[in-house]
Amino acid sequence: MRYLTVALAKGRLAELAMDIFTQIGMDCAEMKEKTRKLIFTDEANKMKFILVKASDVPTYVEYGAADIGIVGKDTLLEESRNLYEMVDLGFGKCKMAVCGPAALKGKLDTITNLRVASKYPHIALKYFQDDKGQTIDIIKLNGSVELAPLVGLSDVIVDIVETGKTLKENGLDVLEDVCPLSARFVVNKVSMKMEKERIMHIVEEFTKLTGVEA
Ligand code: PRP
Repeated sequence: MRYLTVALAKGRLAELAMDIFTQIGMDCAEMKEKTRKLIFTDEANKMKFILVKASDVPTYVEYGAADIGIVGKDTLLEESRNLYEMVDLGFGKCKMAVCGPAALKGKLDTITNLRVASKYPHIALKYFQDDKGQTIDIIKLNGSVELAPLVGLSDVIVDIVETGKTLKENGLDVLEDVCPLSARFVVNKVSMKMEKERIMHIVEEFTKLTGVEA
């Protein structure tokens, strides 16, 4: 039997995913030890777990370097990779939203060349240009996006809102909701053919514990 490799998005999603893999009988003990190792093996179940940056999970899965990935819907929408999205895991729930100063509420449509800062330029462009038919200037950032409207880099941001604490502490509001987000179970297309039985067994176990089959 060959190893099945699972790519986990480093951080909170990986922690939650590990809890579920543990509950379905996989050995994630070594991964929970918080070492700097990036690859872990469960010999008994012939599983490997790799820890990668969230935005790289779909890449590992598309190319087959990982058979399975656990990653946020935000990353899947931004990356548009060729893979199967199998289960909405129902954890890591948050939303993608257009945020900015409260004074802009209800006025976005009237601003020409609205400047939008985001870590998610594809999602932002799709929302404004494809869905709303509004031309925008997109400014790609890599973090601390809430800063952009505060220092005049952009009018608004498109970013993840979970508790709303970051917005509140920086005097910004949600202006428009883009879409709900949560963690997803994704599978490489070839792996799904070659290892269907093992993968579907894991999908079923995950669905029983957390999710809704997609
Ligand atoms: C994310 C997101 C928001 C924040 C939202 O940032 O980009 O900034 O979390 O969470 P909240 O609504 O609970 O405050 P992250 O922590 O990933 O850091 P970043 O600034 O590097 O993007």
